[in-house]
Amino acid sequence: MKAIYPGSFDPITNGHIDVIERASNFFDEIIVATLCNSNKKYLFSSEERKKLIDIALSHHSKISVVSFEGLLIDYMKDQNIKAIVKGLRTVTDYGYEAQMALTNKKLYEEAETFFMHSQEKYSFLSSSLVKEVYSHKGDLLEYVPDNVDKALKELYGMT
Ligand code: PNS
Repeated sequence: MKAIYPGSFDPITNGHIDVIERASNFFDEIIVATLCNSNKKYLFSSEERKKLIDIALSHHSKISVVSFEGLLIDYMKDQNIKAIVKGLRTVTDYGYEAQMALTNKKLYEEAETFFMHSQEKYSFLSSSLVKEVYSHKGDLLEYVPDNVDKALKELYGMT
């Protein structure tokens, strides 16, 4: 079965990658969808965010990356995808994620959301935190893929 893993990924972190890799043990194919949340402003364009993920996950044959505008469920219907994978770090993620899962279910009855708990070592990690640290010229080498570390350092004039 195919599953879609949607998110903003601004930028992707090792916490996201860990969920994607563990989910790929349970699904035949994982499609990572780089989308836009209309309430958020992004540091990287959707093309840049997709490219960073493409490079970070290029060695995985079961994982592909897409980017599109519009509703997630429209893409899922079009591509005959019924499973959504989302990661949960702490209880504070649950309210927001449950709201999205229930909205997607309301819009597309056949859609099922599968939640995966993040590993403890990534439970504090977020793309926002990564941007905050790099914007002050720090780094989080253990928590972002090498190409993301490089992109952030270039952006913040650290090279
Ligand atoms: O990583 P994020 O920002 O929490 O991801 C949210 C995202 C991008 C997955 C969500 O906003 C989304 O699915 N956007 C696409 C448009 C859509 O389908 N919205 C309704 C879903 S509730």
